[in-house]
Amino acid sequence: MKIAVASDHGGFALKETVREHLKGRGFEVVDLGTYSEESVDYPVYGRLCGQTVASGEADLGIVVCGTGIGISIAANKVHGIRCGLCTSVEMARLTKQHNNANILALGGRTTEPKLALEIVDTWLDTSFEGGRHQRRVDMLDEM
Ligand code: RB5
Repeated sequence: MKIAVASDHGGFALKETVREHLKGRGFEVVDLGTYSEESVDYPVYGRLCGQTVASGEADLGIVVCGTGIGISIAANKVHGIRCGLCTSVEMARLTKQHNNANILALGGRTTEPKLALEIVDTWLDTSFEGGRHQRRVDMLDEM
């Protein structure tokens, strides 16, 4: 399983924490940047991660900006991407079970690292339920 991670400066610190956590769990990680706290534009990194997942270069993605909002909007502009911004473990479980989110978004300035890693693990360890949710996910992918 290959996971792409990307952030702007507001999400840089949490992206670094997430990347090391993923490596510790044995995942192959592709780090798309940013690589410092110098100010950059989140749409660039959201789209890059979206394209990396949509093309199949990575199986899943995790994006982080200050709130997770801007970078999730950018990722969701890429056809085939279902990016869910999660601020709780419950949301992480549901965005996989119901939305089959292929990218997880986190807020580096709004979610504490410990909770963020619980969200990451829950999202990774939960399966899509399919059934009635498959039809709705198909509808999203047709948009
Ligand atoms: C950058 O200052 C900030 O606007 C960005 O990280 C993010 O929170 C946008 O949604």
